[in-house]
Parts: sequence; structure tokens; C-alpha cells
Amino acid sequence: MKKRPLGKTGIDLPILSFGASSLGAEFRDVSLDEVMQSTKTALDLGMNFIDTSPFYGRGMSEIMLGLGLKGIPRDSYLLGTKLGRYSDVHFDFSPKRVEESVHISLQRLKTDHLDVLLLHDVEFVSLPQIWEETLPALLKLKEQGKARAIGFSCYPMKTFNTVLDHIEDDIDCLLAYNRYTLQNDTFTELLPRLEAKGIGAIGAGPFSARLLTNAPLPDWLKESEEVKAAARTAAKLCDDRGIDIAQLALQYACAHEGIATTVAGSANPKNIKKWAKWLAEPMDQELLTDVQALFAPVMNTGHLEGLPENN
Ligand SMILES: NC(=O)c1ccc[n+]([C@@H]2O[C@H](COP(=O)([O-])OP(=O)(O)OC[C@H]3O[C@@H](n4cnc5c(N)ncnc54)[C@H](OP(=O)(O)O)[C@@H]3O)[C@@H](O)[C@H]2O)c1
Repeated sequence: MKKRPLGKTGIDLPILSFGASSLGAEFRDVSLDEVMQSTKTALDLGMNFIDTSPFYGRGMSEIMLGLGLKGIPRDSYLLGTKLGRYSDVHFDFSPKRVEESVHISLQRLKTDHLDVLLLHDVEFVSLPQIWEETLPALLKLKEQGKARAIGFSCYPMKTFNTVLDHIEDDIDCLLAYNRYTLQNDTFTELLPRLEAKGIGAIGAGPFSARLLTNAPLPDWLKESEEVKAAARTAAKLCDDRGIDIAQLALQYACAHEGIATTVAGSANPKNIKKWAKWLAEPMDQELLTDVQALFAPVMNTGHLEGLPENN
């Protein structure tokens, strides 16, 4: 698997990484066997950076990963988790919780350090807390060697810029999700700022939480009916040309040289094997042009997330 550097961290990430929210049954029920096989398949195929969070399955993803990674040498993979988001309504970015959260995550994941540690979905809280209280606690954990690279994730572009205004000299990386896909490429607006500071860019959700697949959409998906309709039309067009829309979506997301890695999720080893096969194939440029034309009327149409003032 091709690799790219994560900003100035000295960490090289595979261009496609394994996202473990699916292991926390965020999209559908999963069995322990699916978890074990998915984790092993992803690592065997070179997706050796795994992204998780205590939020995914309210602890289930980290616990499952702890089981799935048992017996695999720790230096053969890179591990990232997050803190601060614990349910749909429970957020806690206080310094005390920062320390406790990482302590618990390390125990669940059966390791003594994280390669990447992110503040999870900061748009749900009043932002000054992030630079006044949370950042110093995060930097302390980095000093202690519990995390090699630190940063944050969120969805609204306004939140990215506001938080960066205050902490861009102190963080190593950030994660944006569903923002570099066939339907939304707004991550590119942030990339020059990140590159200027040497901050590593992590993209997540190449399928925009199943929107760009033929799988049934999760109930919690917030995209508009217009966006969903455009995605259905695009999927049909791809199908007519003998290509799974998920293939084009994955190839497109992973192709951007300014994004260190793209984190994709699945609890199905067969789908994970398809990703590796697709990445090794050239992207159908003509199909891409036609799909982009279909998405043009709803391009970069997103949704609100978190506190209204952070959008
Ligand atoms: N705020 C944040 O920090 C944040 C937000 C979003 C995502 N992330 C990270 O990014 C990762 C990926 O995002 P995501 O899981 O939300 O979305 P995603 O990767 O865009 O989509 C995952 C879903 O797509 C399905 N899928 C995958 N390959 C498929 C294929 N070939 N055909 C049909 N369906 C397919 C999977 O179902 P199966 O299990 O059935 O394959 C899964 O339900 C997460 O796991 C997480 O680590 C972080």
C-alpha cells in the first residue's frame, strides 16, 4: 500500500486506512467473527492505520479492536482514537476527562500509546474550552508519550477555521469527514492552510456513510433528499457502466496527494478486499466526469452539525 507523510509528524500513513466505527455496530449489527476477520483483512492488505473512538458503539469499537488486535505485534500497525464525544448528547472536553478517557481507551485497546489522538467532534461544545482547557491537557498527554500526534475532528468548516485560529501552532493533524467525496470536496479549501503549517490532513468517509454505495442508508444520515436522489442516479449510471459507485468513490478520495490518508469503514472482509483491488486499478476518468456532472447541482451541499453558532 502506498504511503504519505502525516504532516511533520514523521508518521507515514497508508493512503487507505481502516475506520472502526463499523466495528461498533454504527451501521448494522456485527458479529465478533466479522470484527476479527475485518481487522485482520485490513491489516493484511496494508491498511495499517486504524481509527476508532470511545463514541463508536459507546465503547464497543475500542473493546472489539482490543480483541481483534490481540497477538498482532504493536509495531506492525498504527492506532488512533479520540476523546470528548461519548454519545449523541454526551460531550466532555474537561481536562480531567481527557486524562481519564485516554487511560480507559489504552486499557480497552491493550496498548500503552496511541499514534494519533483527536478531540472528537468539537463543534458540539462552546469552542473557547478547546483552546483554554482541553489543548493543555492534550499536550500533557503527548509529553508523557501517550500520544505521538494530536489534533481534532469536526464537520462544520467554520469550526475548523475558528479552532485552527487558536491552536494551529500546537497540533499535528486534523480529521475531516465526508468532505472529500464525489459529492463534497470542501476539504480542499482547508488544505493550503494545513500545508503551510505542516498539519497532517486525514480524510474520513469516502462513501459518505454509505451514500456513495449500493448499501441501504443508515437512518441517522442527515443529507437532504436532493443529495440522496443524486446519489441514487449516480449509482445507477455507474452500474450501467459495470462499475460499483463505491469503487469510484474510493479511488477518487484516495487520489488526493494533499490528504495523507483516507479512512474507510466496514465490518465486511469481502468489502475490504474489494477496496484493495479497486485501489490497484486506474480510475475511469470518463465515468468520473459524468458522475461529477450529475452531482453538480448538489455539490458541497452539507448539513448543520453541533451548536448552531459553530456552523
Ligand atoms: N468525526 C469523526 O471523527 C469521524 C466521522 C466519520 C468517520 N470517521 C472515521 O472514518 C471511518 C469511515 O467513515 P464511515 O464508517 O462513517 O463511512 P464510510 O467509510 O464512508 O462508509 C462505511 C459504510 O460503508 C459500507 N461499505 C463499505 N464498503 C462498501 C462496499 N464496497 N459496498 C457497499 N457498502 C460498503 C460499510 O458497510 P459494511 O460494514 O457492510 O461493509 C459501512 O457501513 C469511520 O469508521 C471512522 O473511523 C470519523
